[in-house]
Amino acid sequence: MTDDPRVLSGIQPSGESMQLGNYLGAVRNWVTMQDGYEAYYCVVDLHSITLEAPEPAVLTQRTRIVAAQLLAAGLDPDRCTLFVQSHLPEHPQLSWVLECITGFGEASRMTQFKDKSARAGAERQGVGLFTYPILQAADILLYQANYVPIGEDQRQHLELTRDLAKRFNARYGQAFTIPDAHIGKDAAKILDLQDPSAKMSKSRPSAGTVYLSEEPAAITRKIKRAVTDADGEIRYDPEHKPGLSNLMAILAEFGSTNVQQIEKDFSGQGYGALKAATADAVVEFAQPFAARTKELLTDPAELDRILAKGAAKARQTAGRTVADVYKRVGFLPPSNLES
Ligand code: TYM
Repeated sequence: MTDDPRVLSGIQPSGESMQLGNYLGAVRNWVTMQDGYEAYYCVVDLHSITLEAPEPAVLTQRTRIVAAQLLAAGLDPDRCTLFVQSHLPEHPQLSWVLECITGFGEASRMTQFKDKSARAGAERQGVGLFTYPILQAADILLYQANYVPIGEDQRQHLELTRDLAKRFNARYGQAFTIPDAHIGKDAAKILDLQDPSAKMSKSRPSAGTVYLSEEPAAITRKIKRAVTDADGEIRYDPEHKPGLSNLMAILAEFGSTNVQQIEKDFSGQGYGALKAATADAVVEFAQPFAARTKELLTDPAELDRILAKGAAKARQTAGRTVADVYKRVGFLPPSNLES
């Protein structure tokens, strides 16, 4: 343990690869926040069964894939604690207590729950989708995180987390640190390339989602076919030109530049040139990233070892929080048979 501020974030092992939005909106910041912070990052497999029930072997493999991708993106197990959520029973243990202080109406107002359950049909949807944000709150509060690097779509879940932490603290004393969201600027909401009114997502398959494990030709094709607008002017204007502005944000991030510079560089050129440059910049990142991921996946035992070490480290912090919370709530401590 250090005195550095704490960071926690999570990613679901849904799909066969993370998508561009996961990387730009969140994971890239996870990598930078390994320095100067005590960082905890988890693959949230418990969350990933709320929407669908993947084949067991598929879920196992996806968990290893995401872990490998996080390492390929630059997470270093010596500088952060990387672990799998289901390895720590402390997550559901804290989640239960938080569920009991969450209002039914409060949970019903979560927009992600409303959107996702509307798609599946509320009657058919499992209760886990409803309690999803409360488990997320537990993930964060267990580690006393000060900052949570996430995309814009998670802002509301972070607000709920803060509310629950304050409520618990007010009733039982200072058990939890109140976390702040760490949300980037232009890349906090990467849009679907085919439907710029929606965010890019891995749980909703679309030709407008770019997966970081895709072949260069497929990435280039998707970017070249991105929906833009008809006025032909290269101008960053997310409100009126969402498709084009999205491409500019992607190019800015991968090309280490900014949208103002891109406006200047591409002024007077057509969208084709901008799309080609964007595709090249993404491929330049994705190719070595995919190769490194593949290499890491050839040694699953080593990956599992890294994750086991991470879980052991995470447990020291999480176990302390659960013990404190359970004591504050007044649960009778289990007595030790040996004494
Ligand atoms: P997940 O796996 O859906 O997303 C992982 C991260 O990627 C961000 N993200 C995006 N950012 C920008 N543009 C996009 N199109 C885009 N799509 C996804 C998400 O905001 C997220 O930061 N509920 C979380 C998982 C979670 C979690 C946690 C996060 C569970 N427990 C505790 C933080 C702390 C999620 O959305 O995962």
